[in-house]
Amino acid sequence: MSQPAKETPQMEKIVSLCKRRGFIFQSSEIYGGCGGVWDYGPLGAELKRNLRDAWWKAMVRDREDIVGLDAAILMNPAIWKASGHVDTFADMMRECSLTNKRVRADHVEPQSGTVMTYTGAQSPTGWKIERPISALLWKGTHIESFRKQVRLLISSNAGEAAGKAEEIELLGEAKGDEVTNSVDFHPETGGALGPARPFNLMLRTFLGPTASLDDPTYLRPETAQAIFAQFKNVFDSSRVKVPFGICQIGKAFRNEVTPKNYTFRSREFEQMELEFFIKPDEAVEIICGQVAPWSESADLSEPQPNWGWEMWHRYWVQERTRFYQSIGLGDVVHYYWQTQADLAHYARACVDILCEFPFGTEELEGIAARGDFDLSQHQKHSTKSQEVFDEDLKNAAAKLTDEQKEALIQKRLAAEQAKTKGEPMPEADVRAWFERLFKGNYVPHVIEPSAGLDRMALAIIAKAFSETVKTDDKGKSETITVLRFHPRIAPVKCGVFPLLKNKPELVAKAREVYALLKKHMNCFYDETASIGRRYARQDEVGTPFGVTIDFETLGEKGPELEDTVTVRERDTNEQHRIKIADLTAWLLARIS
Ligand code: GAP
Repeated sequence: MSQPAKETPQMEKIVSLCKRRGFIFQSSEIYGGCGGVWDYGPLGAELKRNLRDAWWKAMVRDREDIVGLDAAILMNPAIWKASGHVDTFADMMRECSLTNKRVRADHVEPQSGTVMTYTGAQSPTGWKIERPISALLWKGTHIESFRKQVRLLISSNAGEAAGKAEEIELLGEAKGDEVTNSVDFHPETGGALGPARPFNLMLRTFLGPTASLDDPTYLRPETAQAIFAQFKNVFDSSRVKVPFGICQIGKAFRNEVTPKNYTFRSREFEQMELEFFIKPDEAVEIICGQVAPWSESADLSEPQPNWGWEMWHRYWVQERTRFYQSIGLGDVVHYYWQTQADLAHYARACVDILCEFPFGTEELEGIAARGDFDLSQHQKHSTKSQEVFDEDLKNAAAKLTDEQKEALIQKRLAAEQAKTKGEPMPEADVRAWFERLFKGNYVPHVIEPSAGLDRMALAIIAKAFSETVKTDDKGKSETITVLRFHPRIAPVKCGVFPLLKNKPELVAKAREVYALLKKHMNCFYDETASIGRRYARQDEVGTPFGVTIDFETLGEKGPELEDTVTVRERDTNEQHRIKIADLTAWLLARIS
């Protein structure tokens, strides 16, 4: 008999399972860890690889209009200047006056207590602080333990120069105001927070022996910019035509202020990004006579030549949704359509694909319509043209009358004037842009579906995690954990078990079956413990199928069952009798 398990913090159970069964480990654990950085163990590595492969297949291999790229993590720092990351890729931070610990300005938990101030501090070593210090005496904290804590914090921040913490003298103590729900004190230390300042999230490094603090380069904070920077090379070398896309999967690094929720917000992570390049709507209008208008009933099944950015954007939201359905996340994804206020000045639309995690519904992927901002920025900063030439456009524009051309220009000028964000493009620039367009030249616009692989893996694990309490005949209860991974992405596809390990014929046959299947899928051979225990071990890591080699296989229960095996399905416990000769095909049909 089984019944639903009692509710306990699910995230803790997931973290513990992931460590115990080799999915995810803390980086550098034997040295106390490395904040916001994670390693994937054998099963985690397989899970990530399966997700990566599923994404690449759906986005590149199964399509004719997308190609791949594998660019370096290090790039010329001018790229990050052009993209805006050097100047604006920052969180607003506040610094604790006791410890210099930083906290994101929008992540400060409100606190209540009494504000205590000091004119400074000194120690017998001669070390001094000659500025006012203030900290919050939390309600219920004794003043002596507060003073001790302040000394400790000051001393750990000052290092050896301050000597022993207990010998630090706090000067000019004064009791200040009572505050309620104040966001001006560090949530961990109680130290008063300084003003909010931008803190760039890019990780700096120094390339070459002569690089100095003044000319750093950066570990890329996203994979997208390499796609933009290589756009022209890919376009010129790959016989692609707009609309087409370039995909990349790879590591990205962000010095997140508060990495949290396990791997959800990490400092090193992997992104899977597509930049899908499309014609500007004006080019579509010139070639097709009009741009297909978006409506709820629009047919998005096959891309059409008259699609403008809006249809393409909707199309990619639909495609990405289909992908999440194909890996078993269909029923836990949600959408947040960013409002005009949320959007960057160059973005036309952005939808966040959200997923239900144990800690809340959070972003899994963003799909943005970014106009021609990125390629235009690189064109401006590199002074290398990022335009493409479109023969169809040139021919169609040649057939337009001057009035028709002027009407297009006027429509664009009106749209520029109606902008609520960013500066409208000056009329002279608009006219120059149309002049190039009528000759068939434009900088492509882009739709960007950008997903995080680590977040996807976490979402998959969280969605797959399930527990039941099983009670045996003697009334003994046991909690059983099953990871109900979709077979396509399960790290191990099949467990192979001889019914008994002390029967050499069973073991030999099982090894034979294992060798046969291993050529086609990741399998696990296990001969120890009872068959029920072995099933349970594989259920816990999400293996969808278990193959048992028994006496029937050896022909001991009649010739009709010889060379057949029992295949058990993880989720239904259903058992099938399958011929070994058909086994590979039977399993492949269910895991691909
Ligand atoms: N090129 C666009 C871009 O990078 P983003 O929203 O900053 O957009 C895209 O990142 C995706 O990358 C996110 O939806 C998320 O899945 C993943 N991601 C971003 N920061 C992350 C972090 N610190 N840890 C893990 N994944 C992260």
